[in-house]
Amino acid sequence: MNEEHSSASRSSFSGKIGYVLAVAGSAVGLGNIWRFPYLAAKYGGGMFLLVYLILMLTFGYTLIVSETALGRMTKKSPVGAFGAFGKSMPFKLGGWVNAIIPVLIVPYYSVIGGWVTKYLFEYLRGSASALAEDSYFTSFISDGVSVEIWFLVFIIAVILVILAGVESGVERISKIMMPVLVVLAVFVAGYSVTRPGALAGVKYFLIPNFKNFSWMTVVAAMGQMFYSLSIAMGILYTYGSYIKKDVDIEQSTTQIEWFDTGIALLAGLMIIPAVFAFSGGDPAMLNAGPSLMFITIPKVFASMGLGTPAGIMFFLLVLFAALTSSISLAETSVSTFVDQFGWSRKKASFILFVIMIVLGSASALGFSSLDFVTILGMSILDFFDFLTNSVMMPIAALATCILIIRVVGFHRIAEEMEVSSRFRRKKLYCFFMKYLAPVCIAIILISSIANVFGIISM
Ligand code: PHE
Repeated sequence: MNEEHSSASRSSFSGKIGYVLAVAGSAVGLGNIWRFPYLAAKYGGGMFLLVYLILMLTFGYTLIVSETALGRMTKKSPVGAFGAFGKSMPFKLGGWVNAIIPVLIVPYYSVIGGWVTKYLFEYLRGSASALAEDSYFTSFISDGVSVEIWFLVFIIAVILVILAGVESGVERISKIMMPVLVVLAVFVAGYSVTRPGALAGVKYFLIPNFKNFSWMTVVAAMGQMFYSLSIAMGILYTYGSYIKKDVDIEQSTTQIEWFDTGIALLAGLMIIPAVFAFSGGDPAMLNAGPSLMFITIPKVFASMGLGTPAGIMFFLLVLFAALTSSISLAETSVSTFVDQFGWSRKKASFILFVIMIVLGSASALGFSSLDFVTILGMSILDFFDFLTNSVMMPIAALATCILIIRVVGFHRIAEEMEVSSRFRRKKLYCFFMKYLAPVCIAIILISSIANVFGIISM
């Protein structure tokens, strides 16, 4: 039954462009615009950027290629792909750890989606100057009822799209919205970097300074790389299973990586120089974390004298990027339920909806009525972010590496790659897989555990 279902509904992308756009639509989201700038601000600016780029081009490249090739080879999502190589417990665990991550991310992702929706609504109502005030964001997130309402608005939108099965419509809109997002981002970044005092921020963000290097720079950059590129969460297996044999996986990987990183760079240039222009690079502001985008961007727009139109455009586009990403997270979760448990699409969507409400509400209320709950010193939202990015994704990545090294073998990955083109970086791939990947995974896991025991702080 499961087999039948998956083969009957396994569509394929129309070609290389379709595939690159679909992955880019999933990859470009809140991770680029909201998460990347605040992490870069907090963990060393240019140093963070440098570490991120190195990791993306080495470890990230290796993982994207691996997951996509395994997906295309087996024509299965992660649980099925691992299952194709063995039926015993380790294979099951390897598949499930990949498949469960989107289910845990989508609830808290939607909480941020709700914040974005609220900001868009306020801009539409003409509250641009109120939004630019220092305390606006803090008082908003401590109002539990309001946060919960906007969170619900966002997840209802996501679930409706999933139920209606209009992903192809979403793909079509993304083709228009993504370029608009790029143009707007270039424009806002240009404005931001030319503010008086902003140059210090540009330098902080682009020029690595070894003084700013810390262990956490590496850990945060690695978590961000997984998150932003949608690695180690089953997505690329699933997408890989939809591509035809003539797609050059290596070349598409490079295009996706640079597109995703380009948007993150632009977001960094919009936000970090603005922090310097408006607060002189105040360390408290640089450490603002998840709230950074919501505090700085309205100030930039207000000072442009174009608060309302710019705010509407910006939050509309961020909302759009967030929606396409949550849809891909929710879609992957639903298809895992359908494939593995034989549930109908309706039932799977309903159960995901319940999970989203329960876990998402906990994250949403973590700044108000549930603010007394801290897990390992983190708010509930930060905890889910940490658990998935710094603990589960490294384990999921480890599972993929072990599968390739111990079971599948490099030669079969190479064969899969060579069906469509020459495997140009084959030697590098094998080297990264054998030596770099285990080191990276060990670093992030050990640091996360050390953090849990309070030996280092995140
Ligand atoms: N990569 C997305 C982002 O940067 C998040 C995401 C992860 C989306 C996994 C889909 C799947 O926002």
